[in-house]
Amino acid sequence: MPDGHDNLRHSTTEDDITAAVLARFAGTPDPRLKEIMLGLIKHLHAFVKEVELTEAEWFQAIEILTEAGKMCSDKRQEFILFSDTLGVSMVVDLIGHRKPEGATESTVFGPFHRLGAPDMPPGGNIAHHDTTGIPALVSGRVLDLDGKPIARAVLDVWQAQSNGLYDSQDKNPDQLHMRGKFHSDSEGRYLLRTAQPVHYPIPSDGPVGAMLKATGGHPWRPAHIHFVVMADGYEAVTTHIFDRADPYLASDAVFAVKDSLICDFVRHETPTEEAAKLGIAGPVLTAQFDFVLKPAGANAQVDVLDAQRRLAALGARA
Ligand code: BEZ
Ligand code: FE
Repeated sequence: MPDGHDNLRHSTTEDDITAAVLARFAGTPDPRLKEIMLGLIKHLHAFVKEVELTEAEWFQAIEILTEAGKMCSDKRQEFILFSDTLGVSMVVDLIGHRKPEGATESTVFGPFHRLGAPDMPPGGNIAHHDTTGIPALVSGRVLDLDGKPIARAVLDVWQAQSNGLYDSQDKNPDQLHMRGKFHSDSEGRYLLRTAQPVHYPIPSDGPVGAMLKATGGHPWRPAHIHFVVMADGYEAVTTHIFDRADPYLASDAVFAVKDSLICDFVRHETPTEEAAKLGIAGPVLTAQFDFVLKPAGANAQVDVLDAQRRLAALGARA
């Protein structure tokens, strides 16, 4: 009979349980799955022991994950938001896309890419329904690591509207807007017209928003434009360009800012020659960014396209 607190003991310790679970999964036939499962068990148990998780907290975690699952729909992926706001997406991205010096760095894909963006001519306007944003011209070149132009590269571009919403979050979610596929010319040049990118909050009306609030965080992302740049023989890069003037650069809700991806959006009160040729009459912003691609490794292109296809399959984005 236990006779007091000091004499309470367990015949099975916490470490015994961890060892038993590791032993149970040690027979996993697939070596990669075995590595992942043993690592997961080891770290998950260590976490629970380190913070001495209570039953109430464990149950709360289950409630949060259940709520996240219920929120997922053809328009919403709460688990990607958890991955992004906990920095996991960026760590996975860094591991998967190690770049040599000089190559354009990658950053998060995010949940708002859609397949089927229309092909656009040089200078084509992806913001044709956006009536409030200041016109912006983004131009530059697609280059290899030696600085040679890459012709016929595809630049798949997407961006939030001036109201801070992506097309799929707005009134006509089936209508594609602020998206286009541009092509580099024989000198590797590209030119696209859009509206000034704005900072916007990631969806925060679910468990991810509650987590950010409870931990003193915020849901804001600095102003950016998304790109996937692809060319035959080169590794595709999934990235953004960010506006240097944005106040949220240092506190991006999804940790996606890299110094090399920040550029100046320069305001001109009267249209530049190029802007005038495109019919822009008032103030205009210009930004310049060169994309540098590294030669393709095995499966690199397939990985990016696979990510796009799988994301599309999670929602009605195709
Ligand atoms: C985005 O930039 O579109 C995005 C990225 C991560 C989470 C939410 C939105
Ligand atoms: Fe975005």
